[in-house]
Amino acid sequence: MSGNTLTIRETTPAIGAEIGGVDLGATLADEDFARVHEALVTRGVIFFRDQDISVERQKEFGLRFGELVAHPNDPGLDGHPEVMIIHADETSKRVAGERWHSDVSCAAEPPMGSILRLFTVPDSGGDTLFASMYAAYDALSDRMRSLLAGLTAVHDGGPYYRGVNRLIGRDDGGRTYPRAEHPVIRTHPVTGRKTIFVNEMFTTHLVGVPTAESDAILAFLFRHVTNPQFQCRFRWAENSIAFWDNRCVQHHALWDYFPHTRSGYRVTVRGERPE
Ligand code: SIN
Repeated sequence: MSGNTLTIRETTPAIGAEIGGVDLGATLADEDFARVHEALVTRGVIFFRDQDISVERQKEFGLRFGELVAHPNDPGLDGHPEVMIIHADETSKRVAGERWHSDVSCAAEPPMGSILRLFTVPDSGGDTLFASMYAAYDALSDRMRSLLAGLTAVHDGGPYYRGVNRLIGRDDGGRTYPRAEHPVIRTHPVTGRKTIFVNEMFTTHLVGVPTAESDAILAFLFRHVTNPQFQCRFRWAENSIAFWDNRCVQHHALWDYFPHTRSGYRVTVRGERPE
């Protein structure tokens, strides 16, 4: 398909776009790639339907946007360490991403984006919520923006990943997890817009701020970013793809479909050091 067939429909005023008229099973024309990239960085998350593509094609699509990276706490698909298996069924004790977060924000260079294709979906439930951190930043008062400007926060993978491993009985003895310090407000490297970059999954504290104040400011921000005004909610179907930009979006996977099965593959694209 060529640039003539691609359509873009906004999901909500704040975030998201559904892209039609493209076949991700084939290589995107440069013009289409440019429009998809533009939609990703401006809308924060983009959705595609009916993409019955191989894992190799999903990786090739991801590679158009940058190098792929393996997950620090997930062994990945056999022969494809950079492909994360997203799976839940009647034996599951947890699901990936069941709290608001930006993927692996504990890394020194957190992922730019994540591309998830689901091939098995429950009849109902299993939606993913996405929240625009552009909109969340824009909604702050000037006073709060001034307070947050220049602050940095620690993002630590250890507490979260060790908790996951304990729950599922995976031995992580001796393993170390990424831990990094990032600006609380970052600037998106492509759009130049400011975003809130702390999340309840990985951010433990603000640097150089007394604990009581750090806890209070983070509690405010963790609540603020979940305002429904900043959100869209994606209803999956078999072979839907969601591609989110972790630099300007947080997401939350709902596990309201137990004991039913939901499965797919996620590829993750390398990012840069937040500034
Ligand atoms: C994740 O990558 O955080 C999981 C998202 C989902 O399963 O919808």
